[in-house]
Amino acid sequence: MIAEIDTIIEKFSGSQRDNLIPILECIQEEQGYISEEAIIKVSRFLKLPASKIYGVATFYDYFHFEPRAKFHIKICNGTACHVLGTGSVLEELENELKISNGQITRDGLFSLEVVSCIGACGSAPVLMINDKYFTNLLGNDMKQIIEDCKKKIKEA
Ligand code: FES
Repeated sequence: MIAEIDTIIEKFSGSQRDNLIPILECIQEEQGYISEEAIIKVSRFLKLPASKIYGVATFYDYFHFEPRAKFHIKICNGTACHVLGTGSVLEELENELKISNGQITRDGLFSLEVVSCIGACGSAPVLMINDKYFTNLLGNDMKQIIEDCKKKIKEA
């Protein structure tokens, strides 16, 4: 069950501003993303303007502000990945999922985000599904990768 924002915040004693990042991390872990409601509640708790909290949170790529699918795919289009073939991998991925950058599949299972370097250039082209890296990709790897994700759902 998803913990309420108040319950998450209450775990942090006092309203020290040093708690901002740990609080946001906890909220994202529990709720899947940082909602507007969460920003307002954290703002009241830490007595910091919501704009300041939003400003800090957006500095980190780690935080996101919209709900994401069960499998969030980040495909790298940094220089190394681009040169070694992200284009065809992305094309296959879009064909398989019938979505483009920034979209979520109708069943809510997959979301897609094109990003710049994700730090594994030596194994380009690279993508991540949630926290897992998939490296040295070819376009025709995508069908199997997507099928494996769907299988995990059925087995769960
Ligand atoms: S350019 Fe893709 S991981 Fe660095």
